[in-house]
Amino acid sequence: MSKPLIDAQSINKTFDRLKVLDGTNFTLSEGEFVAITGKSGVGKSTLLGVLGALDPAFTGKLILNGVNAAEATSVQLAELRREFMGFIFQDFHLLPNLSAFDNVLLPAVFCGTDTKSVRNDAAAIISRLGLRNDNTPTRFLSRGERQRVASARALVNNPRVLMADEPTASLDEESEENLFDLLDSIRKEKGFAIIAVLHSKKILSRADRILTLREGILHEKHA
Ligand SMILES: Nc1ncnc2c1ncn2[C@@H]1O[C@H](COP(=O)(O)OP(=O)(O)OP(=O)(O)O)[C@@H](O)[C@H]1O
Ligand SMILES: [Mg+2]
Repeated sequence: MSKPLIDAQSINKTFDRLKVLDGTNFTLSEGEFVAITGKSGVGKSTLLGVLGALDPAFTGKLILNGVNAAEATSVQLAELRREFMGFIFQDFHLLPNLSAFDNVLLPAVFCGTDTKSVRNDAAAIISRLGLRNDNTPTRFLSRGERQRVASARALVNNPRVLMADEPTASLDEESEENLFDLLDSIRKEKGFAIIAVLHSKKILSRADRILTLREGILHEKHA
């Protein structure tokens, strides 16, 4: 069996005295679609922050693409986030005054890799996601359009893992399904894995595994 993309063991995370993650384990294999559910405030976003190397303040073992996060330098972790992972945040984190295109290109601009080929990739993924008004500042876009911009930005670097935190919250059922149809077809083509915080039963049924976060631990839901 090939090595997991993410191997997390005995992860603990507290905010002051609030214990959010309490010795949980998690592994992610190549190409898998894992859904995470759980009540509001239980720690789903916190867990994604730890697994995505966005939050170094935790204890436990975290191996990302064979790299031990505890032993990696901040430069190595930044490189992992840039090259190995793509993020769709719960509130998207788009820059409102920049166009959709510039938001998608932003990670490349930060990394100094804003080349012609990256611009072509950005244009391709934007059109694949059906965004026509990519010159419009994102503050004018509808929620569904902003969600597509966030998805395009997460995918432009061809990540091996897509992390999505309730990407379809407050969208109507049809738009939600459309987005997952698209993400699924891009996933099948490119072969990346998905970890997504989700609630909709319809979308959950597409996942390879459903894990519920409860009392700081992920519980596997058996069919
Ligand atoms: N930076 C922080 N400082 C202090 N407490 C925090 C911080 N971030 C999160 N928390 C607390 O940790 C707990 C878990 O928060 P988290 O955002 O991970 O929950 P969630 O499961 O994603 O919730 P939701 O479904 O509402 O998005 C909450 O009680 C929250 O108030
Ligand atoms: Mg959350």
